[in-house]
Amino acid sequence: MATLAVFCSGGGSNLQSIIDNVSSGRIPARIGFVLSNNSVSRALERARKHAIPAIHFSGIHYPGPAAYEQAMLKLLEEHAIDIICLAGYMKLVPAQVIRRYQGKILNIHPALLPKFGGKGMYGIHVHAAVIAAKEKESGATVHFVTEQYDDGPVIVQQCVPVLPGDTAEQLAERVLAVEHAIYPEAILRVVSGKASMPKLN
Ligand code: GRF
Repeated sequence: MATLAVFCSGGGSNLQSIIDNVSSGRIPARIGFVLSNNSVSRALERARKHAIPAIHFSGIHYPGPAAYEQAMLKLLEEHAIDIICLAGYMKLVPAQVIRRYQGKILNIHPALLPKFGGKGMYGIHVHAAVIAAKEKESGATVHFVTEQYDDGPVIVQQCVPVLPGDTAEQLAERVLAVEHAIYPEAILRVVSGKASMPKLN
């Protein structure tokens, strides 16, 4: 059975959707731990409520980036993690971790990548940009993580309409509902081998 690690920084509503789909058995996997750079993130509370190890992992605990990277790799190995799910994780994942988990590290982005991705495109800023661009639709994307931000092969994508007069908050809410549906589906495809990432040369 695959073991997942979920990395979060904030509320953890995507984490909750993953927890619910693992608990129901829809995703044949277990969650080895939830990690957050934010010691008071609601995501860590959600993990604790489900007796999932909740780990506060921050650069402030390490003398430098190399020690931080090695400690993260060690943590992943100690928990025998097979797949990493970034779910509202706002920190950069160290390059060696991405390389070690190539094809086994997923992220969810609240837009139709490759549009509205990359630097500065996070949270409400994404939806504000979509509205400012007068897009007729937006959506959510789950993709494999590579060393380029928001750039890896798409696993699952789902659209939502942008309605006349939408505020960024209204669009964000509509997209978030889709995120909660597609992230478990994407994990299922990776766990079952239906979705895999071509080996980068
Ligand atoms: C989601 O909108 C996700 O697309 C983005 O950050 C947000 C996380 O929300 N990466 P939550 O913490 O899962 O509620």
